[in-house]
Amino acid sequence: MISGKRILLTVTGSVSAYKALELARLLRKAGARVIPVLTEGGARFVTPHALQAIAGEAVHEDLWSLAEEATIGHIKLARLPDLVVVAPASADFLAKMALGLADDLATTMLLATQAPILVAPAMNWAMWAHPATVANMATLRSRGVQVIGPGEGAMAEAESGPGRLAEPAEIFAAIEALLSPSPKPLAGKHAVVTSGPTHEPIDPVRYIANRSSGKQGHAIAAALAALGARVTLVSGPVHQPDPKGVSMVRVESAREMLAAVEAALPADIAVFAAAVADWRTAAAATQKMKKVPGQAPAPLELALNPDILSTISHHATQRPGLVVGFAAETENVIENATTKRARKGCDWIVANDVSGDVMGGAENAVHLVSASGVEDWPRLPKDEVAARLAQRIAEAVGG
Ligand code: C5P
Repeated sequence: MISGKRILLTVTGSVSAYKALELARLLRKAGARVIPVLTEGGARFVTPHALQAIAGEAVHEDLWSLAEEATIGHIKLARLPDLVVVAPASADFLAKMALGLADDLATTMLLATQAPILVAPAMNWAMWAHPATVANMATLRSRGVQVIGPGEGAMAEAESGPGRLAEPAEIFAAIEALLSPSPKPLAGKHAVVTSGPTHEPIDPVRYIANRSSGKQGHAIAAALAALGARVTLVSGPVHQPDPKGVSMVRVESAREMLAAVEAALPADIAVFAAAVADWRTAAAATQKMKKVPGQAPAPLELALNPDILSTISHHATQRPGLVVGFAAETENVIENATTKRARKGCDWIVANDVSGDVMGGAENAVHLVSASGVEDWPRLPKDEVAARLAQRIAEAVGG
């Protein structure tokens, strides 16, 4: 997969920059063309001579170099590669990327390129954990930048923790995976996914809601899109970045969510992962309800919300070919999920035990309940649950 590919390898300022030489060697050995770019910081750790000798190609360093601009130019350079790899990517360089700065050749080229980007961060553990870096990484990920590492372990400054540059072989494997054409079994299919909680207003400042981070639903939308589906993600209020390549519809209440789902039909696949509030207030107050000291609060009159999963599963004319619901249970997980599947009229139920720390957490232990029985999946990161579910969906409806 790597042979004949043009890989622009950007080396930035980190003590681990010496490992970039090994990466360049591996890539060349596999038949890739390595186009090296060195930042000022990177050049403090590896020499342009070493990088140029190993890459077998001229090192690009200077945005203002008349000679370099005359031969190739930074925009041409940006258009050249099949993949841009930043290894190592220092905290400063990642911050510049997140901000879209373009004050040297490497950052300018990254802003101008349309090629996919892989970064391999390397920094001290405290810098990696700093909220600024965490926010920068979230920004970059939400823009589709791929990340490999960092690993955990001993650092140059005799400290230990997460922040070590991924090993050259690992970066090489990530490059290979990115350059392999991924199968698109869901191409031409439309999937509607719900995610997050709904907010049901009590008055202009208060609401009823369920606990839901939207992590699992958003991951499912991303996984379906990665398999080639056109995805409409109807989401309640969450703090998740929009998954790449999906159309977002933002809603607040259950009734808005149902309307948005109905508007998105027809669909081949529907996955209802939202934690929809079962009840809303019968009539939300138009003004903030006043607290009267010493006086008991007025009881809230509740009304039943529409059940989106059940409504769509029983849709007379536009029922999607495969409807998947979720069942968050704290006891008798499988028994309750099996009855829920029958009651709601959906095809599959993904049942999860929420008696532990699943809510808002990174992992999920689920069972897939369908007409053919129950499958128990191991406890997995939510992304992997999503990838497996998308794969199963592709096997069921994919062309
Ligand atoms: O009945 P329960 O809330 O446990 O069912 C969970 C499943 O039903 C989830 O897939 C959820 O997204 C969906 N649901 C819905 N509309 C509701 C309540 C639940 O779509 N009003």
